[in-house]
Amino acid sequence: MELNLESFWLPFTPNKLFKTLPKAKIIDRADGMYYYTIHGDKILDAHGGLWCCNAGHNRKEIVEAIQQQASKLDFVPSYQMSHPGTFLLAEKLVSMLSNDLQYVFFTNSGSEAVETSLKIALAYWRLQGQKNKKIIIGRDRAFHGTGFGGMSVGNLTTTKQQFNNFLPEVLHLSHTHNLEKNSFSKGQPVHGIELADELLKFINVHGAENIAAVILEPISGTGGVLIPPVGYLEKIRKICTENDILLIFDEVITGFGRLGKPFAVNYFGVEPDMMCLAKGLTSGTVPMGATMINKNIYNSFMDLEGIELWHGYTYSGHPLACAAALATLDVYQKENLLNTDQELIRYWEEGLHSLKGEKHIIDIRNIGLLGAIELECKENNPVSRAIETFQKMFYKQNCYVRITGGNILTMSPPLIINKFEIDKIISSFRLVLKNID
Ligand SMILES: Cc1ncc(COP(=O)(O)O)c(C=O)c1O
Repeated sequence: MELNLESFWLPFTPNKLFKTLPKAKIIDRADGMYYYTIHGDKILDAHGGLWCCNAGHNRKEIVEAIQQQASKLDFVPSYQMSHPGTFLLAEKLVSMLSNDLQYVFFTNSGSEAVETSLKIALAYWRLQGQKNKKIIIGRDRAFHGTGFGGMSVGNLTTTKQQFNNFLPEVLHLSHTHNLEKNSFSKGQPVHGIELADELLKFINVHGAENIAAVILEPISGTGGVLIPPVGYLEKIRKICTENDILLIFDEVITGFGRLGKPFAVNYFGVEPDMMCLAKGLTSGTVPMGATMINKNIYNSFMDLEGIELWHGYTYSGHPLACAAALATLDVYQKENLLNTDQELIRYWEEGLHSLKGEKHIIDIRNIGLLGAIELECKENNPVSRAIETFQKMFYKQNCYVRITGGNILTMSPPLIINKFEIDKIISSFRLVLKNID
């Protein structure tokens, strides 16, 4: 297939380089664990697209549900009207969580789910008559999408450095990544719970009466799969509760089975006041996000007359997205994908950690079906080894992994992965790393 690559400005991509690569990464079709390029190469997808295709690619049940919905109802807004899919999906999500998060606001992306949660947090405190509660606390190396709110509370330098005019009242906790103490941890690292006390310091300096919310990815995905130390999230929850500060979990990556449990909320046993979802919600098939909101917050808005929240998106609860999500959740349920076989998770863990000792590796970390390999940086170029590894994995090993958060290769495979495919990822890394300078 002859394609003119010029006019499309690819997101988060070195465009000039991409367009000169000998065999550009252009995917024609997908099936299960694999992508097929326009050149006919079969590529093992070790990243679930972009941390999202949890059910695997082109699942018949999901494809058919989208097709049927498109032929029945293409679009209806959810502004003062809606369609059955929104209500069915909201009910289903609430039943999956079975905690206080009983209300759902639909968006089209993770970024919008985050913006929605931040706006609701600020509006909530105004409703309570606490207009000074405006500070939002995020964390270093967090990624919360590309809206100005999400960029502000996140703190990944590369995603911020070209811009300015962020939200004015934002603070950042330290990230919890500690190679000296925690490298090669399996699952949660042991050291670092004390970092949660930084929140107390912020409260001492700025006053709880001025702090609206803390937003955290339970595990920083794009920051490089940074797993919270034992007890950290629990402590943050406790401090928030004691100081009347809302806690928002951004589960855009950790949601829908990534950790071997339906959500990080279930894995860590910590309940936030709001939660952001996207990606795995439709297994990547149709763009969709959602903000889950607890009863207390929702009910306080319901005391208002007329439109209770002046916020929404044209495509909030789009019929195709709802159909895709409902079918996806059915697939997850029928195949028990959200409670991944613990033996498979152990196999994944052992496979990854068997790479310890290979050239350049300074850390390997894993949790559920997430994994990361961190490489030692070259002095003159902090990410060159990761870039070379990523390219060789794709072009020489037909295996798609990603670079995130520095000299780090990450993996987030579809939850239908089997042992043979895990072996392929590990053996590909072993071969590629031997040939990296
Ligand atoms: C934790 C987290 N939040 C938000 C987002 C933004 O999601 P989207 O790209 O769908 O806007 C991402 C994207 O990777 C993410 O990882």
